[in-house]
Amino acid sequence: MMAYERLRVGLAGLGTVGGGVCRLLEQNAQVLAMRSGKEIVITAVCARDRDKQRGFDLGDARWYDDPVALASADEVDVVVEVMGGSGDPAKALIEAALEHRKPVVTANKALLAVHGLSLARLEERYQTPICAEAAVAGGIPVLKALREGLAANRLDALHGILNGTCNYILTEMQETGRGFEDILREAQQLGYAEADPSFDVDGIDAAHKLALLSAMAFGTEVCFSEVYVEGIRKVSAVDIAYAAELGYRIKLLGIAKRHQDGRIEQRVHPCMVPKHAPIAKVDGVFNGVVVHGDFVDKIVMEGRGAGAGPTASAVVADLIDIARGNTSPLFGVRATLLSAFRGVPLAQRVGMYYVRLMVVDRPGVIADVSAILRDEQVSLEALLQRGRAPGEAVPVVFTTHETNEAAMQRALQSIAKLDAVLEPPQMLRIETLT
Ligand code: NAP
Ligand code: HSE
Repeated sequence: MMAYERLRVGLAGLGTVGGGVCRLLEQNAQVLAMRSGKEIVITAVCARDRDKQRGFDLGDARWYDDPVALASADEVDVVVEVMGGSGDPAKALIEAALEHRKPVVTANKALLAVHGLSLARLEERYQTPICAEAAVAGGIPVLKALREGLAANRLDALHGILNGTCNYILTEMQETGRGFEDILREAQQLGYAEADPSFDVDGIDAAHKLALLSAMAFGTEVCFSEVYVEGIRKVSAVDIAYAAELGYRIKLLGIAKRHQDGRIEQRVHPCMVPKHAPIAKVDGVFNGVVVHGDFVDKIVMEGRGAGAGPTASAVVADLIDIARGNTSPLFGVRATLLSAFRGVPLAQRVGMYYVRLMVVDRPGVIADVSAILRDEQVSLEALLQRGRAPGEAVPVVFTTHETNEAAMQRALQSIAKLDAVLEPPQMLRIETLT
């Protein structure tokens, strides 16, 4: 390889993502040097266990027991944080790197969702970039798209499948009928899941990512605490089958919209989406993000949302940007220009709903359910009862026309109290998606 100036990387974290970064830097060294104008080399590393067999080559990189020490190491120009965790040592490392005027690349959406604003302020104060492409949607360059390719547009809405693990589980449940726990274990083995997989299945990881996308798209301060979050644990094979029969797929979506009064709606929950919508066809570990801009109209992006390769692709793309000197503020505008976040409560959602009840098969049950819906002004779209088992439990499924979340919740509380209703009602929001 011809002689290039070196960009010396301090890599904190040698797990799934850190390993992927090491492999990519080695395998594509030549093309990276040509594209970035620099030889990107790992000169310092840190993880918890120095003796762990990692299965990739760390070359002559110097070992550090303390991640924060990477920030001041003489042989480090850029710090890559792929340890994870929403507090220290990841936060302390990034703060120390900025203080030492060393650019940072991180894949840590949990940290950025919680401390993104304070870190963006430090980025501005020290005039030193934090790049985080890998934090959202794995290998899809969605942050770059929002920050650069779509920068000319006013963005008012986006939605997406933002968690590869959940999409993998839902797809496998639909296609193979295998159980939830079994598929989750497989996703962990494949390197898709978070260190604590409840972050995936309870929707928290998708909410972290949605908060980041929303801040970047709408120019507001990142506000993770104002994301409504529901995970996929309650999605059953029965509902997946009913959804298919009704012409829908079930997906865990992150949805963010800017209302006309400037308030922002942010929610993550399982949704029924029409089977012909682009997002309905995003399967397995793939993520999909759909963005609406006032001049560009609709953009659909799809790619692998988790795993060593796609995430390393995003981390190293950030390193190339740093090598080229082509960086932008973390949220696309200077931290001091981000506007205050004002949220929209979920109770104000207007949309259609799917409800499944387990009821005793006897005369008058549907009449009682209908009366409650009538009293809450909820209009039925379709009602389905399969089979006949007098005196025994049968599923009853209905969908509604557009109605208000608060009314729907009140109706479900009343329905749950009926003697003939044997289990808490299962409710899924239907998103028609433009
Ligand atoms: P991982 O496989 O669990 O690896 C974490 C690495 O960080 C390990 O090498 C671990 O050391 C090291 N580490 C953890 N705590 C540490 C501490 N206190 N001090 C020093 N080292 C520490 O995690 P991962 O999947 O690579 O994820 C890393 C980050 O990338 C997370 O923020 C995650 O959310 C994000 N991310 C992951 C993916 C993905 O598909 N996996 C995709 C996008 C973003 P040991 O190996 O010695 O235990
Ligand atoms: N656990 C995350 C997922 C990794 O499954 O999407 C990618 O951020």
